[in-house]
Amino acid sequence: MVDDVTDETPRPCGKRNGPGHGDDPGHGDGPAHGDGPAHSGGPGPGRGGSHGSAPAGNHGGSPGRYDDGGHSRRPGASHDGTAIPWSTAMERALYGPGGFYLRPEGPAGHFRTSVHASPLFATAVARLLAATARRLDTDEVAVVDIGAGRGELLTGILAAAGDCLDGLTVRPYAVERAPRPPGLDPRIEWCAHPPAGVRGLLFANEWLDNVPLDIAETGPDGVVRYVLVRPDGTEEPGGPVEGPDADWLARWWPAAGPGTRAEIGRSRDEAWAAAVGTLERGLAVAVDYAHAREARPPFATLTGFRHGREVPPVPDGSCDLTAHVALDSCALPGGRLLGQRAALHGLGVRGERPPLALAATDPAGYVRALEAAGQAAELTARGGLGDFGWLVQPVGIEVPEALAGPGGPAGTGASVRSQAADHSLASDGSQAADRSMASGPSERLGA
Ligand SMILES: C[S@@+](CC[C@H](N)C(=O)[O-])C[C@H]1O[C@@H](n2cnc3c(N)ncnc32)[C@H](O)[C@@H]1O
Repeated sequence: MVDDVTDETPRPCGKRNGPGHGDDPGHGDGPAHGDGPAHSGGPGPGRGGSHGSAPAGNHGGSPGRYDDGGHSRRPGASHDGTAIPWSTAMERALYGPGGFYLRPEGPAGHFRTSVHASPLFATAVARLLAATARRLDTDEVAVVDIGAGRGELLTGILAAAGDCLDGLTVRPYAVERAPRPPGLDPRIEWCAHPPAGVRGLLFANEWLDNVPLDIAETGPDGVVRYVLVRPDGTEEPGGPVEGPDADWLARWWPAAGPGTRAEIGRSRDEAWAAAVGTLERGLAVAVDYAHAREARPPFATLTGFRHGREVPPVPDGSCDLTAHVALDSCALPGGRLLGQRAALHGLGVRGERPPLALAATDPAGYVRALEAAGQAAELTARGGLGDFGWLVQPVGIEVPEALAGPGGPAGTGASVRSQAADHSLASDGSQAADRSMASGPSERLGA
């Protein structure tokens, strides 16, 4: 395994993302291959960390920064070392033969998501499932987890069923590109694609950030070009961005001047629309690192993760490759955006300490409550998981009450930042509120 990158930065917490669904999230009309002058990655726009706010150079890309003893499978990038579009490189590096996400250790071997951080997250999703069933007025409901990892969220939902899903028949579907893990609850159906025509809740936690996408950079001449990448992660400019990609950039991530970058989220929009389209009725929710049109990071966000550390995004299959999600562009008519802090508060997850008096009457119960409060605080923390974006997309139903208000019924405790993250989308998909959505945290949760 290629594993000796030397400039890893320890990250106490955080995570990364993935491709559109379908076999080839790369879109056919992608970038032209490099017809511009190669540049060797001097200073200039780096993808700099997850917030993309710190120029870090064009990823520096010194060939030989890593050494795999000559045994690299190089599932990403071109096999002959020529530079190719980032979307193609990501697709191969994450999901091709030997790809990062097909490894036996699974995502949890490299980072923690909200799902891994606490069972309270699955319990909250179980409550949302029950609320969706009430909106559907049914006692049989599907829950479809897209980008299911190793089925951890569905396992947690089934474990919470006794408390939250009484009287409901639940049909759980895990949609994953990796194979079914051994020992998974047999009630969980493992699928390569979302089942069509279901009624219920479709949930995608940290899926869209791993949907491959192309990257654009504005040159000194003001021309916006695709960025191409070589197997060692070094880059060169490709052809000018044109057609639907240029239209997407103009609408959602306008160029901010020479040296700035943008991640073309069209592939994520399409992946999300296709996923939502599989619901006959119900609710679709995407949870991810996000940014909004008013505050796109000028140097973009693409980065790598391995073993809980942020690493340079080298498309060789040795690390995760993730870029924050323009959730506002993914949103379909009727959708709304809110922060995880507000969403989880609405679903009853709060970080309040238990009363001290409990310690005297029920010491064990007090310790359990204290532990739960700590986990809830982590899931809703400002500057951490609480800043994740939730895109809530109803299909033929009203948004359940818990997620309908500014912060939901329990919204009085929502943070200013989370409330500022709320967007309502008018029926034409435009934003009714012109407020910036908080970016997700830059770090992933170290595994
Ligand atoms: C960052 S992990 C998140 C895992 C889990 N949802 C969690 O929150 O812990 C992203 C997962 O999405 C999966 N994935 C990416 N694209 C997919 C697709 N098109 N269909 C199904 N799964 C996909 C990857 O294989 C990976 O397991």
